[in-house]
Amino acid sequence: MSRVPLIAGNWKMNGLVADGTALAAGVAAKRKGQPDLACDVLICPPAPLLAAVIAAVAGSGVAVGGQDCHAKVSGAHTGDTSPALLKDLGCSYVILGHSERRGDHGETDAQVKAKAACAHGAGLIAIVCIGETLAQRDDGQTIAVNKSQLRGSLPEGANAANTVIAYEPVWAIGTGRVATPEQAQEVHAAIRAELVELIGETEADKMRILYGGSMKPENAAQLIALPDVDGGLIGGAALKVEDFWAIARNCG
Ligand code: PGA
Repeated sequence: MSRVPLIAGNWKMNGLVADGTALAAGVAAKRKGQPDLACDVLICPPAPLLAAVIAAVAGSGVAVGGQDCHAKVSGAHTGDTSPALLKDLGCSYVILGHSERRGDHGETDAQVKAKAACAHGAGLIAIVCIGETLAQRDDGQTIAVNKSQLRGSLPEGANAANTVIAYEPVWAIGTGRVATPEQAQEVHAAIRAELVELIGETEADKMRILYGGSMKPENAAQLIALPDVDGGLIGGAALKVEDFWAIARNCG
């Protein structure tokens, strides 16, 4: 099965208007310069930067996504963003259930599932994040934790067209400590096996599973080449055009 890799930049809470717009324009220029690169390229800026970033990448083929959304279409939810607004702005993806949201905001699998369902309803592709902590890995719980988060976070109707999974071991995020290719492939294969149970073999085979956690130009080639790794969700290295593009180039 050939899955088109997705190279996704998660800018987190970084960037002001000028540098965020310049970063987006830089990625757009790289993409335009390499239209044949065999991957989808996505950037996910902080919500207030979305409009400027969408304008900066217009016509380049670079997709833009949110970093979170609410589980309701609209209403009295101060500070939140609806999936419908993300879509209306021009987003095509939204990251959901990132471990920083699970940690900082106590998001549960059930909430992630509800958000993903609402995102699907608005026509967005949900990037559903899962991953174990170091304590869980040391305790031999890695596969069980990831399967359970996957099962709890995937909404009804999830398929390869509307959902991407991101495996992000919490101990590898922003730490410089990347999963070994063996560790990554083991978990990705287990996730795909669980997807077969949840959505059937055809969709499981087509669904993209990204690796995230200290992916850098130095380690990306090895990870992206793994049979069940279909691209990356990149934090720190997505904040520099050259680093982000050095990762994307591995899909060529
Ligand atoms: P990192 O972040 O690449 O800085 O480790 C990845 C992520 O959290 O999505």
